[in-house]
Amino acid sequence: MIIAPSLLAANFARFGKETQRVAHAKGDWLHMDIMDGHFVPNVSFGPAAVKSVRPLTKLFMDVHLMCSRPEILLEPFVKAGADGITIHIELGDQVTSLIWKIRSLGKQVGLAINPGTPTSALEPYLSKVNLILIMTVNPGFGGQPFITETLPKIQQAYSWRRDKKLDYRIEVDGGINFETAADCARAGADTFVSGTGLFGQPSLKRAISKMRKITADNSPLASRAEKK
Ligand code: DX5
Ligand code: ZN
Repeated sequence: MIIAPSLLAANFARFGKETQRVAHAKGDWLHMDIMDGHFVPNVSFGPAAVKSVRPLTKLFMDVHLMCSRPEILLEPFVKAGADGITIHIELGDQVTSLIWKIRSLGKQVGLAINPGTPTSALEPYLSKVNLILIMTVNPGFGGQPFITETLPKIQQAYSWRRDKKLDYRIEVDGGINFETAADCARAGADTFVSGTGLFGQPSLKRAISKMRKITADNSPLASRAEKK
């Protein structure tokens, strides 16, 4: 199980310290939400912020681009130190060339899907990506409530992976707390982005380890192992 705290919920006045806090608290990945004020109605931060925290940690930097023109941002984020870049399926025709571009830059490729987009849109790309990101809220803001209707999308991504013998990660993002993380783990998720749900807890370290345990305990793989 991978727990990926989202820096969007951190204190922006102490970006570097918050990054180190995630590392000390044993987060697995650092999730960076990039918003352009066009693809989503909000603006967050850009490559300069990623570059400034890169020397502070070895954590995998999971860059989630909620941007209408990711093609102009791929190289800057790779240069800034991103390890994986996720783009949105809602970009339509551009998706194939964007996947190719991220791969050619030597980085892990993620493909995100919004709650309102049919899951079938992902199918042509499954063998070409390292990660599927199921948005469990409409992107744009932290602290929104989890949308339960997204659970079947996770189940679909899980059964495709099993049936087609693929190996992408299944990441969930938006409204993830201990309870909703357990629901997503039962549906087949293995990578959990959480902002408010983790940074809002008194101890980030205890919160991360609790979320890791809850998700592992609820994974379909765990119950299969028990039955053996
Ligand atoms: C939503 C972002 C999320 C956000 C999650 O647009 O993609 O990554 O930071 O925040 P919480 O966990 O607060 O919903
Ligand atoms: Zn995100």
